[in-house]
Amino acid sequence: MGNCCEPAQINMRKRTEASQNMSGIMEMLDKDGLKSVHYLSQNTMDTSESTQENLSKYEIHQLIGRGSYAKVFLVSRCLTGEKYAMKVLKKCEMECKRDVKRVFIEKDIIQHLDHPFIVKLYSTFQTKDKAYFILDLLSGGDIYSHIMKEKHFTEERARFYAAEMVLALGHLHDNEIVYRDLKPQNIVIDSEGHVKLTDFGLSKTNFQQDQKNTICGTMKYIAPETISGEKYTYTIDWWSLGIILYRMLTGKLPHPTSINKRIPYYIINYNLPFKSELLSKPAYDLITKLCVRKPEHRLGAGGVNEIKAHPFFKEIDWEKLYNKEIEPPYIPREELHLQDNIKGGIEDTVVKSKKKGAFSEEYFKNFSFASPEVMDSSATMYEEFEEKKDSW
Ligand SMILES: Nc1ncnc2c1ncn2[C@@H]1O[C@H](COP(=O)(O)OP(=O)(O)O)[C@@H](O)[C@H]1O
Ligand SMILES: [Mg+2]
Repeated sequence: MGNCCEPAQINMRKRTEASQNMSGIMEMLDKDGLKSVHYLSQNTMDTSESTQENLSKYEIHQLIGRGSYAKVFLVSRCLTGEKYAMKVLKKCEMECKRDVKRVFIEKDIIQHLDHPFIVKLYSTFQTKDKAYFILDLLSGGDIYSHIMKEKHFTEERARFYAAEMVLALGHLHDNEIVYRDLKPQNIVIDSEGHVKLTDFGLSKTNFQQDQKNTICGTMKYIAPETISGEKYTYTIDWWSLGIILYRMLTGKLPHPTSINKRIPYYIINYNLPFKSELLSKPAYDLITKLCVRKPEHRLGAGGVNEIKAHPFFKEIDWEKLYNKEIEPPYIPREELHLQDNIKGGIEDTVVKSKKKGAFSEEYFKNFSFASPEVMDSSATMYEEFEEKKDSW
């Protein structure tokens, strides 16, 4: 999640059942304030009371990720031993209602999407101070940490990750969601070597092309029209993909300055100086077409198929890729090991904030959700456990 403040702009156009649920939530959040989310959740999927999903069901082993808002832990479900990632957000770090709204938006997006290259949500719950997401464990590390370690990737590897992201972003756009925070930190490798998009804290649902929007995202990857506060379209995500592809292939960022404050000036005023000598012809061609300053001339303005058809992706069989039938070029070697339970120490590992929690449990009422998958496997295990106990 990054920083973002935006005017409430709601589109009630509905496409799928999932987006109906999301638009319902969005509408109520904006019209009536946060509390009204309770109404919708009660009528749809919220199951906190019935599932009894809570922190005590998990053993916390180690910190595996840290973002601008959240910490992510490797956890195992006590009854089944299954490993998950647990994203923890501190309520006291949410400064305005919109921050709370983003937590709900993130939950609703991941809960409803089902895609091989988008992280899966198993459950959500809360304690007095924190909100928890139980997610797919992606044990291979994020793309950023790999670039830092390995400097840059082979073209084959960069193409594979970029292609999986093309499918993930295309799916979001089909569902009227603009991602808005594409960066290497939010793309994480799973144990088999595929990548998944995580962190939907800045995404926008029910997105209408050409609506006036807010400056939002991470400066190094942000499109010029976002910075200048113009109307923008789904193509802001394709711009970010171009910058990421350049970084994966060269280990560098294209901006002619490393001073963060000056980056927006270059993005708005100049064509970024991508170094053609570091890239193959098709790679250079794709990157420069994704990073065209005028959004209407950018590759992808006419839909995801424009990008899929680019010569850089000539070798990619998109159907096989979607079905995970293409062998990943890199398979993470090290399995994450379950360390001793650190639950007693979770308070120490989550940054202590001096701010007093402004948002009580009331604001997060009905935040909890549990997928049948996680509950079913536990129910079976629980029955077995009870049977064993009887025979002791
Ligand atoms: N499901 C996951 N499995 C493993 N690591 C993850 C997972 N989700 C996120 N991470 C790691 O945790 C970091 C922070 O998570 P993120 O959701 O991006 O938090 P924030 O909203 O604070 O940016 C990510 O950059 C990534 O390295
Ligand atoms: Mg993040």
